[in-house]
Amino acid sequence: MTLPSRNSPLPEPMIVPRRRDPGPQLRALPGVQPRRGGMENFPPPALRSAPLPQPPVAPAPMQRARVITVTSGKGGVGKSSLVANLAVAMTRLGKSVLAFDADLGMANLDVLFGVRPQYTLYHVLKGKRDLPGILVGGPPGVKFIAGGSGMAELADLDPATMETLLASLRRLETYSDVLLIDTGAGLSRNVLSFVRAADEVLLVTTPEPTAMADAYGVLKTLALEGPQVPRTSLVVNKVRDPEEGLLVARRFIKVAREHLQLKVDYAGFVLEDENVSLSVRRQKPVVMLYPNSYASVCINNIVAGLFDSPPPEIPANRPGFIERLAGLFRRA
Ligand SMILES: Nc1ncnc2c1ncn2[C@@H]1O[C@H](COP(=O)(O)OP(=O)(O)OP(=O)(O)O)[C@@H](O)[C@H]1O
Ligand SMILES: [Mg+2]
Repeated sequence: MTLPSRNSPLPEPMIVPRRRDPGPQLRALPGVQPRRGGMENFPPPALRSAPLPQPPVAPAPMQRARVITVTSGKGGVGKSSLVANLAVAMTRLGKSVLAFDADLGMANLDVLFGVRPQYTLYHVLKGKRDLPGILVGGPPGVKFIAGGSGMAELADLDPATMETLLASLRRLETYSDVLLIDTGAGLSRNVLSFVRAADEVLLVTTPEPTAMADAYGVLKTLALEGPQVPRTSLVVNKVRDPEEGLLVARRFIKVAREHLQLKVDYAGFVLEDENVSLSVRRQKPVVMLYPNSYASVCINNIVAGLFDSPPPEIPANRPGFIERLAGLFRRA
């Protein structure tokens, strides 16, 4: 890639991967029938035709948001990039999205969105701001709550402060259609609490055996802690081609079923694509900067799949996300 000179206007440096053909599922986009054989459902119907519509400004509904927590066992598998891009892709399906950076200590959604929030959850914890005072506008249709180093103190809050925080967090539940939570990697109690409290979980892995083993470790810990594991779907990131994603997913789903008696769904794959890191450097989600890149098409597929299938059934008397989260923190 030739780098632009300092004074030249910024080029549109979308990189077309030189690796193998990405496969029929992606070649088929848009409007061409995908080849049959294993992944007929890719891309989901919502994406088989015209380009996605422009982001509408959706009014905030009064019903509870669908709470999706994105997590992984191993670090660096692409959770935060995924959250930033899922958020934008969801707005293009008409959803209002609130992204919540719950990566304690290593929060970086703000960087991925190219926004510098003045206040973070830390200031709420310290009683210096209320929640509406820290909501930050990201890309159109996306609001987010920036984490801060003080988030790590969440675990040590005294009950009174915790109640105050939860009371203000409670408002989040009706604020958007989707509450998308980015967690840190691994098995810390904080991460597991955000996972347990969610309606559904996107468990991210790459094809590396270490990442798969660590993702399995998360699932195993959840299964051992109690029978109520939220609906979990696997995202296989940084794959060479769709077949690799499918292979990883099949293996993972089989092991989870046989050893943990847990049903894991396959949310989809994201091709390894240099446009992702290029977008990170330019601090804009790849679906905005390079909407036709392989990674963007994959992310749109995942989002369409999520909204194609009905959300998990939540019993009417099930406490809301914040209540569940509060319960988990209280129990610890
Ligand atoms: N599909 C992809 N293709 C190429 N690079 C990717 C892809 N997805 C993510 N990356 C790159 O992988 C790196 C890690 O991504 P990211 O920070 O999103 O991971 P993470 O799981 O949130 O990490 P952490 O566990 O530290 O929070 C980044 O440099 C990002 O650009
Ligand atoms: Mg991250």
